[in-house]
Amino acid sequence: MELADELRYRLVSWLGNRLAGVKINKVRRMDVNRRTYCAKRRRWFGSLLIATGNIYLKRTGAGVRALPNHQWQLRESEVYRVVHDLELMTDSSGWLLIPEFSGTVLATYLESEAHSETEKLDAIRLASLSLSSLHSIEVQSPDGQQRPLSHGDATAQNVILGTSPMKASWFDFDMTHDNLRDTHWRHADDLRALTYSVAERLRAAMFPSLSTAIVEGYCGAERDVPTPVLDALAESVSYWQTRPISFHLAQARVGYRERRFLDGALLDAIRCRKNAGGPVQSRVVTS
Ligand SMILES: Nc1ncnc2c1ncn2[C@@H]1O[C@H](COP(=O)(O)OP(=O)(O)OP(=O)(O)O)[C@@H](O)[C@H]1O
Ligand SMILES: [Mg+2]
Repeated sequence: MELADELRYRLVSWLGNRLAGVKINKVRRMDVNRRTYCAKRRRWFGSLLIATGNIYLKRTGAGVRALPNHQWQLRESEVYRVVHDLELMTDSSGWLLIPEFSGTVLATYLESEAHSETEKLDAIRLASLSLSSLHSIEVQSPDGQQRPLSHGDATAQNVILGTSPMKASWFDFDMTHDNLRDTHWRHADDLRALTYSVAERLRAAMFPSLSTAIVEGYCGAERDVPTPVLDALAESVSYWQTRPISFHLAQARVGYRERRFLDGALLDAIRCRKNAGGPVQSRVVTS
């Protein structure tokens, strides 16, 4: 049974790798009126891929979909307006001009050997804290309803660490969660994507401390634990454990055995936080 599970996981993982290589957007730096933008536009075949990809996402129950061009531009603009108080512009060639944040993308930061493991854990905590702030904001969903924001693709590749002041900013809002999913499910799904995509870039011995950093960062110093989100995250860990899907493995390429270990570490961190009712110390594993 274990062998069959592992083989299935490897196959889905291979598909995930292929999926991760599919680029539906073009992104390039552009200077306009002495301001630097990350200009973003769908590729010409984007609509076709999005339509077929969304059928696949629906069938797998991923709970997310990629937005078609117009809806994506509306959502990205709405998020930047509400979260960053910035009005986005589109140029005459259809590039959406997104003001560039200065700093280092979390994925790149974690892959660099220039930073210590403690610094990496601090960065993860910051990204998780910033995700919880994002979740506390209400925006208009593509269907016109006001809902608490969730990212939809909250991986380490979509958050940037600024240096002064030290903060983490989320970008890339072209995926959206299904409106039918409740807020706690959507927020837990963002935490799942962050946790696994961070783990992809760290050695397994750090999984317990990374799980604690994610949970503690998200809960902050408050004694009031966001229990429903942590419960939804624990539920999602157990649910996906036996149902790997290639979208998740495209977001985060973690091997089968590492994934098992990580699932356990994350469940432990959730349990610890809920039992403690306040911040807990992270455990360090040395082997
Ligand atoms: N607002 C921003 N500030 C700084 N850098 C950004 C910003 N938006 C995008 N980038 C840079 O451009 C890259 C790709 O942008 P984005 O994630 O929005 O598009 P994408 O379609 O997911 O691209 P990819 O599939 O290549 O990651 C990011 O990894 C980041 O380096
Ligand atoms: Mg991205």
